Formats: sequence, C-alpha cells, structure tokens
Amino acid sequence: MSASRVTIVEVGPRDGLQNEAAAVPTDVKVAFVDALSAAGLPVIEATAFVSPKAIPQLADGDEVFRRIAKRPGVRYPVLVPNEKGLDRAEASGAREIAVFTAASETFNRKNINASIDESFARFAPVIRRARTAGMRVRGYVSCVFGCPYEGAIPPPSAARVARRLIDAGCDEVSLGDTIGVGVPTQVPEVVECCVDAGVPLSRLALHFHDTRGTALANVAEGLRQGVRIFDSSAGGLGGCPYAPGAAGNVATEDLLYLLHGMGYETGVDLSLVAAATRALSGAIARRPASRVYQALESARGPRPV
Ligand code: COA
Ligand code: ZN
Repeated sequence: MSASRVTIVEVGPRDGLQNEAAAVPTDVKVAFVDALSAAGLPVIEATAFVSPKAIPQLADGDEVFRRIAKRPGVRYPVLVPNEKGLDRAEASGAREIAVFTAASETFNRKNINASIDESFARFAPVIRRARTAGMRVRGYVSCVFGCPYEGAIPPPSAARVARRLIDAGCDEVSLGDTIGVGVPTQVPEVVECCVDAGVPLSRLALHFHDTRGTALANVAEGLRQGVRIFDSSAGGLGGCPYAPGAAGNVATEDLLYLLHGMGYETGVDLSLVAAATRALSGAIARRPASRVYQALESARGPRPV
C-alpha cells in the first residue's frame, strides 16, 4: 500500500449510535450503513452483538446486519464481547468481528464487568473460533490516553494490552482515546511504546474522540508517526455510555477534509458521507457535531420549510 493511502474505519453505526439518546429505527440504521458504503468507505463497523441490556440502541443488530447491502470489497466488522456475540455474528453472516478490552482495570469492570485478564480469558476462545471460521479480527483497547476513573494511563500498560491482543490472534489493534483527553505529544509516546512492544505499525489504528477538541491534532500527529488507519464516525456521532462526558468520535467528514487537504488518498467521497449524515440527522434529534458537515450545510443555504 502506498504511504499516502489511509484507511478509514467508519464506526458511526456502532460507536456513534450506541450513545444516541433517541431510539433510531432499524430502517434508518440500514439506510445509514448503505449510504456510508455508497460513499466509498472501505470498512464500516455495522453494529454490536453485545447484551441488549448493556446497549439497548443496538438490540436490533442482527436484523440490521442481515439487511445491509454487502458491497463487494467493503468490510463490515461487528463488535462482539463473548461467545454469545460470536454466535449471533456467525448466524447473521458476519465475516469480521471486533473484540474489546481496556488499558484501565476500572473502566473494563464498568464496561464489560471483567478485569483485563478476565476479558482476555473471555475472548480468547472467541478469537480462536472466529479465526478457525476464517474471520478477520480487530481488537480495541479503550482508555489508552486516559481513563475517567483512573486518570493517566502509562503508555507501557496500554502497549502491553495491545501486544496481548496481537498475540491472541487479532489482525489489527485500534488504540482508543475513549474519553477524548489525549494531546498530540502523547501520540508518539503511545505509538512508539506499542511498536517497541512488538505491534507492527501497519497493524495499528488510532481511535480518537473529540471531547476536548484535540482529535484532529492527534490524527495529524498519528500520520507523522506513520499510522495509516483511523477510526471516525459520520457527523461526529457518538460517545461511550460507560465513559461519563465522552463526546463523539472524530467526524469522518472532518477527517476526510484534513486527509485530502494534506494529499492523502482514501477512496471516500466527502460529500456523500455528508449526505449520509444528513439523512440520519432527523433521527438523532441533535445537530451533528462535524464542523465540515456544518460548513457544507450552511453552504447549501436555509432548509425549505
Ligand atoms: N448478546 C446478547 N445477549 C447477551 C450477550 C450477547 N453477546 N452477552 C450476554 N447476554 C445476555 C445474557 O444472555 C444474559 O441475559 P439474561 O439476564 O436474560 O440471562 C445477560 O446478557 C447477562 O449476561 P452475562 O454473561 O452474565 O454478562 P454480564 O452481565 O457480565 O455482561 C457483557 C457482560 C460483556 C455481555 C455486557 O457487559 C456487555 O454486553 N457489554 C457491552 C458494553 C459495550 O458495548 N460497550 C461499548 C463499547 S465501548
Ligand atoms: Zn470509541
């Protein structure tokens, strides 16, 4: 892959929607995923097969997954916490899963009711089964840049968890700033620690939330460090229900504007991503946070009433 090619992992339908207060109808979710794949996004995390009690918004994940268009060449990972989630993923025809743990013990306990070690014990058989079935596996590490309960997280602790995910069989590891506290000087520390711990740079993704407005600055630093995979959500939807005060992911539109302006190729059509956000916006009862989306909307002029 050329050094100027960047892969965007669109997480709006999962990380984004899971934190929206308004219940989004299944039809709207399906149309949202289809609009995102039409925009050229190469990887779309379509939903989560977690406990519906933990995340009621995604309780219809099985139906959403079955109904979305499976565009050739597009990957549609689904978030899976345990074997029950993998059963649902297999039954729905998913070809890629994402497992998740955290760099913080307390966050893990609140989010998935398990310590870091217990989380590995829980998803080791999930990863093994998935790989035997020929599925691709992505691993998330939450709270890499700070934790709402524990505060600062030492980069070597985060790197150890990332390495464990690779050793457990993950193809790729996404380092999450779940609560959006990271600043650019942390990015090289974290990335270097992971690489030193044996995680290949080509298998590292960065996942920023924009709670304090630092997400795009962190992306720019990640690019300088050679990272070429970034997670984002259309419109800047999202947050995390177990991370108090967390705002949305870095917006896909804003990320695309930055990347294309800096000469990186993504294969994604920014105006079609904005169209996907626009079509969803009526269902989420708040203005999408993306600055580029807002700029495009004002250029369209006032909406007819
Ligand atoms: N899909 C559907 N239902 C599930 C499930 C899955 N993958 N995993 C567990 N459940 C159900 C169980 O059947 C059980 O239901 P019951 O009470 O009707 O018998 C209930 O959920 C509790 O299951 P248990 O195995 O005891 O899990 P737990 O209460 O310790 O919860 C998780 C652990 C991981 C399943 C749960 O915390 C979870 O789904 N968390 C996801 C959080 C998340 O998505 N966060 C966002 C990512 S940042
Ligand atoms: Zn996230």
